[in-house]
Amino acid sequence: MATLELRNVIKTYGAGLPDTLKDIQLKIDSGEFLILVGPSGCGKSTLMNCIAGLENITGGAILVDNADISGMSPKDRDIAMVFQSYALYPTMTVRENIAFGLKIRKMSAAAIDEEVARVSKLLQIEHLLNRKPGQLSGGQQQRVAMGRALARRPKIYLFDEPLSNLDAKLRVEMRTEIKLMHQRLKTTTVYVTHDQIEAMTLGDKVAVMKDGIIQQFGTPKDIYNDPANLFVASFIGSPPMNFIPLRLQRKEGRLLALLDSGQARCELPLGMNDAGLEDREVILGMRPEQIVLASPEANGLPTIRAEVQVTEPTGPDTLVFVTLNDTKVCCRLAPDVAPQVGETLNLQFDPAKVLLFDAKTGERLGAVGRAQAPVTGDNVAQFKGR
Ligand SMILES: Nc1ncnc2c1ncn2[C@@H]1O[C@H](COP(=O)(O)OP(=O)(O)OP(=O)(O)O)[C@@H](O)[C@H]1O
Ligand SMILES: [Mg+2]
Repeated sequence: MATLELRNVIKTYGAGLPDTLKDIQLKIDSGEFLILVGPSGCGKSTLMNCIAGLENITGGAILVDNADISGMSPKDRDIAMVFQSYALYPTMTVRENIAFGLKIRKMSAAAIDEEVARVSKLLQIEHLLNRKPGQLSGGQQQRVAMGRALARRPKIYLFDEPLSNLDAKLRVEMRTEIKLMHQRLKTTTVYVTHDQIEAMTLGDKVAVMKDGIIQQFGTPKDIYNDPANLFVASFIGSPPMNFIPLRLQRKEGRLLALLDSGQARCELPLGMNDAGLEDREVILGMRPEQIVLASPEANGLPTIRAEVQVTEPTGPDTLVFVTLNDTKVCCRLAPDVAPQVGETLNLQFDPAKVLLFDAKTGERLGAVGRAQAPVTGDNVAQFKGR
């Protein structure tokens, strides 16, 4: 177990090129599991390679257990990494690939055999141990690369999209295995993924990155419920959050958002500290599961009639699309709700769960119904740009 800290880390690949990592600050506690997400090209693999020592950083420092390792060679860092590309030794068998790191560490032959047996069973590659990487499928090679890292007991694991080449069923199994393994070993881990479910379920913390900048760093729950800006809100969640552009209004002293389905209108009262928000162009954010069918009992929640445009039964729920303020809006309803296209539904929203973003900057304007600002120094390591 080890702490990992990135202190103002900058990475530039060459003079004249823009910085790929811009002043990254992250602190991961001993035994924590950090998920790193962000769009393609934002610098995730670069960050992993810098931690592993495969790339030199241009500025800042990387600390393990409070000791600066920035100048150390990769082999002295005691960090095991699974690459996005598998990087297996092509001339060695699967068994030799997995055993390689253990041999270098002078483990006894019996202990190596035991370790190879353990990880190959875990990864379901026991039947492949005598093959060479060239004789394996992409998913099999990826599992061998995992095996090579898992056979070691390093201070830190780095996983760069380790499950992306696996089929859906194996991926779900492996996800559970990784979680179990982490609960057992408690090795400090950084894990890059594009998968929404992995992002929400695997980690203790999530860092959302864009253009080499950490946009938000917090627990999965923080990131989902209290996104710092429009980018984070749009990046996490599947189906994604609905965004409805509108201008805030004031009526009888109260601030409200007016929703219009074409058939009906609904005034959404905004119980937040509203200084300066009147007449402001905003983007209202509502997750699909926050729009529900109106309950028969009068519960006082704002209601709107809207016509069903499209339905998508996914199995566990039915996605229903309606139009509000000329914007397509997805509602995630129960699987037994099976409305016809053209049918009219009465939909309700809980104004306390609606989020507001500045239409120009994308910054969060505070949670409706919650007085406090959502972004605090505690849950944002660094919050710049959008
Ligand atoms: N060796 C290199 N030399 C120059 N530029 C590089 C090098 N490696 C990466 N880059 C650039 O740095 C940026 C970040 O790349 P990186 O591979 O870290 O992205 P990523 O977030 O891992 O993307 P993906 O999700 O597609 O794997 C990209 O613009 C990429 O072109
Ligand atoms: Mg990458």
